[in-house]
Amino acid sequence: MAITLTWTGHATWLIDTGSGVLLVDPFFDECPTASMKAKDVACDTILVTHGHFDHVADLVAIAKRTQARVLCAFEIAQWLAKQGVENTQPMNFGGSVAVPGGTAKMEIAHHSSSLPDGTYGGNPAGWLLDVGGVRAYIAGDTALFSDMQRIGRPRDGRGIDVAVLPIGDVFTMGPEDSYEALRLLKPRIALPNHYGTWPPIAQDAAVWAARVTAEKLAEPRVLVPGGSVRIAAQGS
Ligand code: NI
Ligand code: MN
Repeated sequence: MAITLTWTGHATWLIDTGSGVLLVDPFFDECPTASMKAKDVACDTILVTHGHFDHVADLVAIAKRTQARVLCAFEIAQWLAKQGVENTQPMNFGGSVAVPGGTAKMEIAHHSSSLPDGTYGGNPAGWLLDVGGVRAYIAGDTALFSDMQRIGRPRDGRGIDVAVLPIGDVFTMGPEDSYEALRLLKPRIALPNHYGTWPPIAQDAAVWAARVTAEKLAEPRVLVPGGSVRIAAQGS
């Protein structure tokens, strides 16, 4: 078993679990670095970390067109309902639900969450996915927090296979704190995101990757928008 993660730019991911496609934080048409347009996205389930525009800009349009179920904070589900998106799964921290290929658990994140029209978006979140035999952690927009040690703690003898972390700084953790996050999470593979989209969050991902490798924190994989990485389940 294996999953394929495709980075379309910024903090947007398509995750093919082998049983369906999960879309994380749809931001395409207004994203300067996006590798595709919102109208071309196919997915079965949409996972939302929080309400900021660079995570939900194309959410309503894609949800309506695809009828994909949207997993999000309770408050974001209420906002979606007012715009005619009814196929939602309102959630909050600690909650876990079935998705194609496994489960998705809503984890904590240290950030803020308001929707583009100013509506309160509830708490910002990360996602801990057990899909296709792979444990994947999508941190979302967040600062470093010590509970990452708990999130990375092995369950059933298995730790995190792949962690997606922001490295852009300014609005989220930057590279330095991402190294500490990797020490706590102990993933096999690390993928950076939420950088390079605009000048304030410019980062040299090659420098980041060299440091992750030198300190043996994880196996870094730096993608360009549109790039994919296939991650096999351990033991498969
Ligand atoms: Ni944000
Ligand atoms: Mn953001």
